[in-house]
Amino acid sequence: MLQLTNKQILLGITGGIAAYKAAEVVRRLQDAGATVRVVMTAGAQKFITPLTLQALSGNPVHCDLLDPEAEAAMGHIELARWADLVLVTPASANFMARLTQGQADDLLTTLCLATTAPVAIAPAMNQAMWKDPATQHNIEQLIARNIAIFGPDQGSQACGDIGPGRMLEAQHIAQLAAQQFQSNALDGVKITITAGPTREAIDPVRYISNHSSGKMGFALAQAAVEAGAAVTLIAGPTSLPTPERVTRIDVESAEQMHQAAIGQLSQCDIFIGAAAVADYRPVAIAEQKIKKSADSMTIELTRNPDIIAAVASHEDRPFTVGFAAETENVTGHAQGKLKRKKLDLIIANDVSNQAIGFNSDDNQVQLIWKDGDETLALASKQQLSRTIIDKIQQQFANSRSGHQVIT
Ligand code: PMT
Repeated sequence: MLQLTNKQILLGITGGIAAYKAAEVVRRLQDAGATVRVVMTAGAQKFITPLTLQALSGNPVHCDLLDPEAEAAMGHIELARWADLVLVTPASANFMARLTQGQADDLLTTLCLATTAPVAIAPAMNQAMWKDPATQHNIEQLIARNIAIFGPDQGSQACGDIGPGRMLEAQHIAQLAAQQFQSNALDGVKITITAGPTREAIDPVRYISNHSSGKMGFALAQAAVEAGAAVTLIAGPTSLPTPERVTRIDVESAEQMHQAAIGQLSQCDIFIGAAAVADYRPVAIAEQKIKKSADSMTIELTRNPDIIAAVASHEDRPFTVGFAAETENVTGHAQGKLKRKKLDLIIANDVSNQAIGFNSDDNQVQLIWKDGDETLALASKQQLSRTIIDKIQQQFANSRSGHQVIT
C-alpha cells in the first residue's frame, strides 16, 4: 500500500502535452496521504490551467518567481523548505537542460536549487528528443547529482511516434514517490521513542507541565518506521495522530513514562528520549480540588526518576539517545548531560528560540557524541527527523562494530 502520510510534495509541472496527466498525479499523491502544492512553468500553463491544479490540490498554485503577492504569502525559499520532496511531472527536455545547468531563471528551477529535499523528475518528450545525446548527457548528470528519474515509458506518443519518452502513469509515479521515503537501513531494529510532555498532578483538575507538543518525537517515530524499524512510541499527553505502523503507549506522568520505558527494554535496540519529562512532581496529590483561600500557597515538589539515565544504566542497555533542551550554553550543557546520563548520543536544541524547539514545526539541532559533533541545518521536524534517524543508524551500526565514526 502507498504510504505518503504527512508528506509535503511540491509538484512541478513543465510545458508538454503530458501536463494534463499531472492532474491525476495530484490525486494519486493525495490518495496516499500527501499534501500537494503545485508550481507551474509558463509552458505548463499553455497545456493546463493553474485553476484546475488549484482546485485539485486545494492550495494556491505558484507560477512566478517575481510575484510580490505570492512571495508575501509563501516566498520561494519558504516553499523550498516546505517540501519533503520536489517532484517534476512532466519534466520537459528544456526543463531538464536548465536543471542540469543549475539555472534559476524561473520559479521551478529556482526551487530545485533552493531546496534541501530530494528532487525527482518524470521526463516526457518525443522519442527522438529523449534519445538525443544532449538529453542523455543531461540525464547522466542529473543521476550523478542524486536526482531520481521516474521513467519514461515506451509506447505510442501524442505526436504519432512510437518509442521511449511517454510519461509514466500517475499511479506508478505516486508509487515511486513513496519509495523515495523508504529505506531498509533499520530493518529488524527495535526502537523505543518517548515524546511530548508529562503532566504532574497537583489535584484532580490541575497539573504541572511544559510546552512540548510531541511533534519532534512523533516525526522521529515516523522517520524510523520509514527506515524499516519496529517502533514503539511512549507518548505524553498530546493530540497528535499516531504515525502509521507505530505502536503507541499513552502515559500522563513521568512515573508512568518511566515504567513504560523500562518495560520496553527487553525488546529495544535503540532508545530515543525526545520527551520533555517534568523533573519534579508534587509530593502529594490533593484528593479534592484545592480551594482558593490564602494569598499565596506553596507546593512541595520531589524529584522524578531520570528515565533516560535509568535506561542507559540498565543491564539490558540499548543504544541510548537523549535530547537536551537548553536556553544558554547549549553545547556545554548538552555535553554535561551526555556524560552524566551515560548516553551514546545527545541532540541539543536551543529552546530559547521560539521558531525552533518547543511546539514549533521546525527545529535546528546539534548532534554530540563522545568524540565529535555535527550541526544540522534548520528544517521541518519531519525532514530533520529523517537526517537524525540516518545519523543514529550510522552511530548504532558503528557501536555494534566497535567504531565511533559519523559521516
Ligand atoms: O515536543 P515538541 O514541541 O516537538 O518539542 C521538542 C522538544 C523541544 C521537547 C525536544 O526537541 C527536546 O528537546 N526534548 C527533550 C526535552 C528535555 O526535557 O530536555 P532536558 O534537557 O530537560 O532532558 C535531557 C534528556 O533527559 C532528554 O532526553 C529527556 O527526555 C530526558 N529526561 C529528562 C528528565 C527526566 N526526569 N527524565 C528524562 O528521561
